[in-house]
Amino acid sequence: MRLIIMGPPGAGKGTVAPGVCKATGCKHISTGDMFRNNIKNQTALGQEAQTYIQKGQLVPDELTIRMVRQTLLEDCKGDQFLLDGFPRNVSQAEALDGFFAGQERGLDAVILLVVPDEQIISRLSGRMVCPDCGESYNVNSRRPAKEGICDACGGKLVVREDDREETVKSRLDVYHSQSEPLADYYDRKGLLLKIDGSQSPEAVTQSVADALRGL
Ligand code: AP5
Ligand code: MG
Repeated sequence: MRLIIMGPPGAGKGTVAPGVCKATGCKHISTGDMFRNNIKNQTALGQEAQTYIQKGQLVPDELTIRMVRQTLLEDCKGDQFLLDGFPRNVSQAEALDGFFAGQERGLDAVILLVVPDEQIISRLSGRMVCPDCGESYNVNSRRPAKEGICDACGGKLVVREDDREETVKSRLDVYHSQSEPLADYYDRKGLLLKIDGSQSPEAVTQSVADALRGL
């Protein structure tokens, strides 16, 4: 399948993506994870992206679109993917449409995780992530078995630099002004599946799987 998962920062995109990918055979493509890997490896792309990510702003479209296009072509031959965090504005969505132009089929569905802002702020203030494999934990809802250590790969958990309160506020503003309009964009194309993201992670994953089975 060709899928997008969207929703505000902290909606649970990265949490439910592995379960959705397991159920569908899709490859998880997270632009946020790709930028963070580039920052960790101190690449030129990482250095440029970091200045925007630290402020909670979008990385310029040109860099982002080039990175996604290359990954789609190289890693999954343009098929069987779950895009997480891309597209994030209308010009990125149009670039993705252009990628499928001339092909018989485009996207299969766009999953929108709906979570109120108050819940987002409380989730992000308790998040810890594994810098090695990208797995997300939470002091309130998803503690690792061993304090500070990733269950999946044994990495040392850290707090994401952009989870500071002021940065979360600007990420939410950017979401509401630039990314949320994409819900209408995809609804008009008949692709949008709205999922209640305020349920438990297991229930959200199940709701997504049920919605995809209905396609
Ligand atoms: P990105 O990494 O995509 O960040 P984001 O969209 O802000 O989303 P998050 O990763 O913070 O949240 P999530 O929805 O994955 O939630 P998670 O599952 O971790 O992007 C980072 C930055 O990169 C952007 O700000 C931008 O600068 C740049 N960027 C990325 N893509 C770009 C693009 N296309 N264009 C331009 N710039 C781009 O869950 C959050 C927490 O909640 C965790 O602690 C988790 O354990 C907990 N949790 C999850 N689900 C539940 C649940 N159901 N109940 C209770 N707790 C839960
Ligand atoms: Mg994420």
